[in-house]
Amino acid sequence: MNTQKQMINNFKKVCICRSVTGGTIMKAIREGSLSFESLRRAIRVGTGNCKAKRCRPKIEAQLKAYKESLERSGKKATSSKANA
Ligand code: FES
Repeated sequence: MNTQKQMINNFKKVCICRSVTGGTIMKAIREGSLSFESLRRAIRVGTGNCKAKRCRPKIEAQLKAYKESLERSGKKATSSKANA
């Protein structure tokens, strides 16, 4: 059930203005974009007409959940890209 929900979230648009899906955001996070600003630079989320009013809370929740899952598994979150 959980994987089915994850699959649906991968195809759901999180940043509606830029048509960026949850899967694209998760891929960028795993590749080292560990802040909203670095995601903005990497995949242009939050650069649409609403200026991130709709997507920023969802993306920050996704980032927080990812960092917490890393902490639970004992890994340290490292960024391969510069965080601002
Ligand atoms: S929904 Fe992301 S910039 Fe508008």
